[in-house]
Amino acid sequence: MEYQDGEALVCMDCGATHEPEGGLLVCGKCGGLLEVAYPRSVFRSVSFNGRGVWRYRSILPRVERTVTLGEGDTPLVKVERLGESLGLRNLYVKFEGANPTGSFKDRGMTVAVSIALKFHARSVACASTGNTSASMSAYAARAGLRSIVFLPDGYVAPGKLLQAVAHGSTIVRVRGNFDEALKTLLSHREELGVYVLNSVNPYRVEGQKTVAFEIWEGLNRTPDFVVYPVGNAANISSGWKGFKELVEAGLADSKPRMIGVQAEGAAPIAKAFLRGEEAIETVEKPETVATAIRIGRPFSWKRALKALRDSRGTAVTVSDGEILRAQVDLARMEGLFAEPAGAAPVAGLARLSKQGFFKGDETIVAVVTGHGLKDPSVNIEPYAELIIHPGENPAEALRKLL
Ligand SMILES: Cc1ncc(COP(=O)(O)O)c(C=O)c1O
Ligand SMILES: [Zn+2]
Repeated sequence: MEYQDGEALVCMDCGATHEPEGGLLVCGKCGGLLEVAYPRSVFRSVSFNGRGVWRYRSILPRVERTVTLGEGDTPLVKVERLGESLGLRNLYVKFEGANPTGSFKDRGMTVAVSIALKFHARSVACASTGNTSASMSAYAARAGLRSIVFLPDGYVAPGKLLQAVAHGSTIVRVRGNFDEALKTLLSHREELGVYVLNSVNPYRVEGQKTVAFEIWEGLNRTPDFVVYPVGNAANISSGWKGFKELVEAGLADSKPRMIGVQAEGAAPIAKAFLRGEEAIETVEKPETVATAIRIGRPFSWKRALKALRDSRGTAVTVSDGEILRAQVDLARMEGLFAEPAGAAPVAGLARLSKQGFFKGDETIVAVVTGHGLKDPSVNIEPYAELIIHPGENPAEALRKLL
């Protein structure tokens, strides 16, 4: 389809095309999720300039004022010691914890908050397991917008809550889980007069796809596999969109296979994929230590299943124990501190590697989505500690300890 006048919003279910406007969140015809689609001419004249997310502005929605904190351009680190322990010789981590608010959400938020200004929004809102609210609060502050966050009471990591409070968001605690918090926001968004910045917002996905461009540029090639933790499943879908667009633009000649990792207690997408089912079964009471992916009714399940299948990828579930093990391994073998959800891809790789899924020489990128400092409530396994008085010899005391 050719759009004459810039990008359009296309329904991923019924294909209906919509003109972008501020109140529009889902398809006016069928309620399906919308995706930003560009005229073909855009892919004929792609050029990358500058740094971070806006380096890729030639394949991003057009904005009037850019609300930026210098997001993107995160480290792509070859992790040889960790790789060796997993039998993977070409393993990389894309460390999204290095974004301004400590998670990949900033990539989407810089675009979506810039769009909120274009649509003349005064207030923005989201329901969140924590990172979306942390990011939205910061970008709203930067843009001079009011922000309201709907949080599942008792299940948000303390660092993330602190971020939303620090940036001046109004906090609404919903006595329920994330899925219930989101439902509450969506059913009252018009009364509240807010522009919703959850990942149902199609512009979030546009910003998040830029991680694919950075991975491709950083490696100078398309990796064989890219591994994502999966909650609402927008991020893995956005990565897949990014890799497809690189091919469409004639830059890359292949696409990677996508791997989605879910926690055992919150794994509707992985289970549907592994059983070969067309639809997911929602999880009423999702449970996992990785609160960022504690989602039972993932919004983007359809496009995530499609990404896994179209890319000939796979899905895997991991236990909380495996996630915490991966968190410690990343921190101790590589110096990269991730929150539990961010470490889940490494846990997934460990599981798949044990099952003999890999040959060992594939180029694999694990997208480590959030910083470990966000979640100081997680119990890290035993560590060496020494208590001494001033004047005592620490070397002597250490010899006794070790
Ligand atoms: C650190 C972290 N990892 C992974 C995810 C999951 O992303 P998505 O919901 O797009 O699947 C989230 C979402 O909150 C997150 O905060
Ligand atoms: Zn539709």
